[in-house]
Amino acid sequence: MDSKIKTLQDKIALAHTGGGEHRIKRQHEKKKLTARERVAYLLDEGSFEETGILVTHRTTDFGMEKEIYYGDGVITGYGTISGRLVYIFAQDFTVFGGALSETHAEKICKIMDLAMKTGAPLIGLNDSGGARIQEGVRSLGGYADIFYRNVQASGVIPQISAIMGPCAGGAVYSPAMTDFTLMVENTSYMFVTGPNVVKTVTNEEVSSEELGGASTHSTKSGVAHITSSNDVQCLEDIKSLLSYLPQNNKETPPKKEVVLTDEIRDALTDIVPDNPNKPYDMHEVITGIIDEDSFYEIHKEYAENIIVGFARIAGRSVGIIANQPMFLAGVLDVNSSKKAARFTRFCDSFNIPLLVLVDVPGFLPGTDQEWNGIIVHGAKLLYALSEATVPRVTVITRKAYGGAYDVMNSKHIGADLNFAWPSAEIAVMGAKGASEIIFKKEIKNATDPLATLAEKEAEYADKFANPYRAAQRGFIDEVILPENTRKKLIKAFSMLENKEVHTPQKKHGNIPL
Ligand code: COA
Repeated sequence: MDSKIKTLQDKIALAHTGGGEHRIKRQHEKKKLTARERVAYLLDEGSFEETGILVTHRTTDFGMEKEIYYGDGVITGYGTISGRLVYIFAQDFTVFGGALSETHAEKICKIMDLAMKTGAPLIGLNDSGGARIQEGVRSLGGYADIFYRNVQASGVIPQISAIMGPCAGGAVYSPAMTDFTLMVENTSYMFVTGPNVVKTVTNEEVSSEELGGASTHSTKSGVAHITSSNDVQCLEDIKSLLSYLPQNNKETPPKKEVVLTDEIRDALTDIVPDNPNKPYDMHEVITGIIDEDSFYEIHKEYAENIIVGFARIAGRSVGIIANQPMFLAGVLDVNSSKKAARFTRFCDSFNIPLLVLVDVPGFLPGTDQEWNGIIVHGAKLLYALSEATVPRVTVITRKAYGGAYDVMNSKHIGADLNFAWPSAEIAVMGAKGASEIIFKKEIKNATDPLATLAEKEAEYADKFANPYRAAQRGFIDEVILPENTRKKLIKAFSMLENKEVHTPQKKHGNIPL
């Protein structure tokens, strides 16, 4: 028996060396942790149970039968994070550059199936040179097996992808179909075709970093939801993100115990400036409403005219969507609409209530926006919010103009409670623009057109630049003092906890994609 135990121990020890010491050294030199180090850091100590540690590839072409590594370039299994079950795969760059073979894909599919059967999040740590070139179409089939499962799991269990090295070609489509993509700055990149192909086809000279690094995807494309300065930070980010999420679509997010002592927040009173054209930072409003230090922002550097992220209010997870007057005056445009729509759908899939903070002057005008389909993209947000059945609460802090008023979680599209601050202006448009149109003749014929415009503007503002017309119609449930906002929201989300909505039976809707 001793020799049999020794055989097993030797095999496991060999598996733990991955592609060998020299390749591990190379990985560290690139300032990257190995797959095993990443798994060990991410999961609760001693909680990892590995599956398929002795799996090897089945290829015999190109002398591959002589290059056998236990685990075949991916570590798979399950464990816990803060005591909650998760499934994980971590690609091992030290074995064939983490390239995906048929067996490597089978290992990933097995834990995806378990994650679905048991209803727990799936985390993928990607670090791979793509399809295992020696295997050809078998590895492409492996990718598709994963893609198919990503789609089946979408909206059932949270799926999180961290890009911690290369992720190129077909490999990008699994992360793209998961809920959140995190990228490590300077050591990760994602692209469909790399710089060499780009040069051949379009004659563009571009580096990997510029084409598909973390900075590019977090600012320009929006492919990355979160960027992290290094591997350890990325793993910490995954832990933070998970803390707001339920295990699956049948559960609610975990609630934190909090002692409620600071429900009246005086700091909120002076945030909105008297001058309606002056910007202010909506983050300050968020801070004033939520539990201390509980905001976790998603897509921080992308489409900054809208803020989205998770927070806690009296210990409950909420998804926040907020116009940001600091950028483009908080207008809705193509990118901000897509960003907020996707976030809305995630929250709705996973029973996370939505808080929408509104200060929106309308949609961004211009040929660029129209030609890029603002009509369809704006409709995404309108559709996503209208479709959402989670508790939905709105606070209008200042402007709610035009069609954007409707879109930003208005009562008409199913919001449960709509509050406005006394500084709210709920109107078709700003007083100046409105007066220029409806009093055009009077202004033109006046002896002093400027004085007449000012007079009409004041008249219009007096009538509409406030929340009271909307409150009279019941479009606003209550005009509240800013300092009471947190208190009101705690009660609102508590009241809405057991909200149930029965929607018409259908296969699925047809969101304008
Ligand atoms: N299939 C099989 N082996 C692969 C591989 C792949 N797709 N990608 C990398 N490898 C192997 C390399 O042969 C090398 O093996 P070695 O350790 O025995 O020398 C090892 O992985 C590391 O690759 P290396 O090129 O030395 O690392 P790098 O950091 O310099 O470059 C890449 C990383 C990903 C840019 C580079 O390996 C690459 O371009 N790979 C191919 C990408 C590709 O076209 N994939 C197929 C289409 S999806």
